[in-house]
Amino acid sequence: MGKTAIILGASGLTGQHLLTALIADKNYDSIKLFSRKKTENKSSKVTEIVGNLLTLENFKEDFTADEVFVCIGTTAKKTPDKTMYKNIDFGIPAVAAKLAKENHIPTFIVVSAMGANAKSSIFYNKTKGEMEQAVLSENIPHTYILRPSIIGGNRNENRPMEKIGMAIFKLLQPLMVGKLKKYRLIEAENIAKTMMYLANEKPEIQIIESDKIQELALLPAINKLQTKNMELIDKLNWRYAAKAMNGEKVPQEKIDNIIEAARLAPTSSGLQPFEIMVITDDKIKEEIKAVAWNQSVVTDCSHLLVFAAWDTYTAERINKMFDLTNDIRDKKNEGWENYRQQLLSTYPQKDAEENFIHASKQAYIAFGVAIVAAAFEQVDTTPMEGFDPAAVDKILGLREKGLRSAVLLPVGYRNADKDWLVNLTKVRKSKEDLVTLIE
Ligand SMILES: Cc1cc2nc3c(=O)[nH]c(=O)nc-3n(C[C@H](O)[C@H](O)[C@H](O)COP(=O)(O)O)c2cc1C
Repeated sequence: MGKTAIILGASGLTGQHLLTALIADKNYDSIKLFSRKKTENKSSKVTEIVGNLLTLENFKEDFTADEVFVCIGTTAKKTPDKTMYKNIDFGIPAVAAKLAKENHIPTFIVVSAMGANAKSSIFYNKTKGEMEQAVLSENIPHTYILRPSIIGGNRNENRPMEKIGMAIFKLLQPLMVGKLKKYRLIEAENIAKTMMYLANEKPEIQIIESDKIQELALLPAINKLQTKNMELIDKLNWRYAAKAMNGEKVPQEKIDNIIEAARLAPTSSGLQPFEIMVITDDKIKEEIKAVAWNQSVVTDCSHLLVFAAWDTYTAERINKMFDLTNDIRDKKNEGWENYRQQLLSTYPQKDAEENFIHASKQAYIAFGVAIVAAAFEQVDTTPMEGFDPAAVDKILGLREKGLRSAVLLPVGYRNADKDWLVNLTKVRKSKEDLVTLIE
């Protein structure tokens, strides 16, 4: 069975966001709104209890739930009378906490304000501080007090002066770093997100300042991203250098994604000094297999990729890539043109073999990216250096094109029945042996 939540102040800016989030959250079956007037919410999860919140004690019987969210708060402008202000901002949360305690509700989450301090000489800060103390004195097991800075978001009310002030305050946001961070404007939506996070995760904190509210609001999204990363790591563990493939065709869409990933790989100076031959012709595959240690995957794969690097760097090749950049970006840049001259005065003068080695290193980067992309698509690969490059160059006529084969990548599906490697544990050196921290 799902949880029941109580909201006080569901018609305010933060309360509205909270209500929307609670309705959407599968952890909650029922949401009770205690308010002065009906919100007319149509969700079947919502029950509205309408009455005077200044006499909240009268609702004790209905005041049962797993969690209480208090987003009640007025402003000095709306409630200039200080006694009334205190009845609302201190009185309602304090009575709500008392009722929660009496009705054994284990979680109480209340929005206070930055600067809350019972000892403050400023009336508003003092009132919020006293409210916090009253709430804490109930010793509800999971009590959370949020202290937001100025709250942003679209208010239904029209407050022109406040809008102008807010615009200036928004402009100052990027300057508020370090200790000033907690004074940054906070969106009501993020306060609601943090309230949800606190209710669902129940972390060991009690008072949450404005910068922390912001941080916690983003946490579920960050955790989700990390789960995505885990999925990639799982796939990299699933990947292995297949020793036998079953001849099944890999869908073109997956092949396109693998090649696109290789195309997007970074290269030195962005020269991309290689090409990729994609071979599906059975006869050519047979010929290559014969000069690749007879490895069966060369013919049993779906697509055989040959990463062929430039045999050397020429002025023409370098210029072509620099011109392409100018074309695509539609402008010339002096620094970029100087860099072109720098490359033109170094690479073409070097020994062709040295240039080929440099170019093939770039091809290997794309090769690595292709392997990861294939794993991501749950497609198998066999990285392959076990072949005679000169013979492959001859079969494919690569030298005539100014290319030389650097590395092969059969792409296909593993043949688990015939592959001795498929069930063997992956062997990698430890992180400690791989990584040296220099701090
Ligand atoms: C550049 C390179 C060349 C490789 N050449 C071959 C090869 O010719 N034949 C083969 O069966 N495996 C080859 N491998 C596979 C490696 O032996 C294998 O990736 C390594 O042992 C790690 O195992 P795993 O990839 O299954 O996790 C090559 C791997 C790389 C990265």
